[in-house]
Amino acid sequence: MRLRTIGLATFIAALGLAVNSAVEAQTMETLKSGMNVTEEIRHGAALAEANCALCHAVGLTGDSPHRQAPPFWKLSQRRPVDTVAKMLLDKEAPAHSDMPTFEITETQAHDIAAWIAWVQPVSHGRRLVEANCASCHAIGLDDESAHREAPPFRNLSMFYPIDALEEAFAEGIETGHPDMPVFKVDITQLQDMIAYIESIQGQ
Ligand code: HEC
Ligand code: HEC
Repeated sequence: MRLRTIGLATFIAALGLAVNSAVEAQTMETLKSGMNVTEEIRHGAALAEANCALCHAVGLTGDSPHRQAPPFWKLSQRRPVDTVAKMLLDKEAPAHSDMPTFEITETQAHDIAAWIAWVQPVSHGRRLVEANCASCHAIGLDDESAHREAPPFRNLSMFYPIDALEEAFAEGIETGHPDMPVFKVDITQLQDMIAYIESIQGQ
């Protein structure tokens, strides 16, 4: 079911029809197919793609098409993400802005909010592994490791539970791996990297 705006009803309704057949393809852009997420998050991603992407960057990276619309991947810099569902349900768009209000069900609001909440750590974790690990490890869904012996991150769960990474890093994962540099990361950075790595494990 598609959301409908009040203010821009006709416009968005027309848009809704227009994007309908493209939702599948565009969703794969937002949420790479093969990423390991729950049904509600997948549903939230599809809703965001169909209803919000006109103005907001709704995926893991990128700038918003509408300059004032905050990209979803860094929405937490602007408001706590656990307030998003209520904001949508209360139709509480910022006044005097282009942000429309939506007719929306609780499930839809919840799922969009779940998507937005999921994107925060995963997007941050992806930026961290891009900057710190990609020179050796494959960090995507189908790339190859630049260092022959460095395992692609998407295969790590074949060797051990991803949760164990937190402990492994705390204890110094680099010991015994001469080519692997020492990293100083704080707990949030570590948890966000793990959230990203978790998201790309094969199912
Ligand atoms: C027609 C353009 C447009 C569409 C479509 C749109 N937004 Fe927005 N949105 C904006 C703009 C512009 C702002 C910034 C408003 C401001 O700062 O005054 C915004 C702000 C927001 C904020 C931050 C509000 C705050 O006060 O912190 C959230 C959350 C948000 N939008 C969620 C959504 C969701 C979810 C959807 C889809 C269901 C959506 N938006 C669709 C334009 C849009
Ligand atoms: C300079 C190259 C290099 C960089 C940069 C690098 N690694 Fe590695 N990493 C390796 C190599 C090589 C191995 C395989 C070592 C072995 O099996 O002996 C490895 C192994 C691993 C393993 C598996 C360890 C195990 O016990 O099997 C994990 C997890 C890992 N790296 C995580 C990371 C993370 C997270 C980053 C970024 C913060 C990173 N690596 C950056 C080279 C690198």
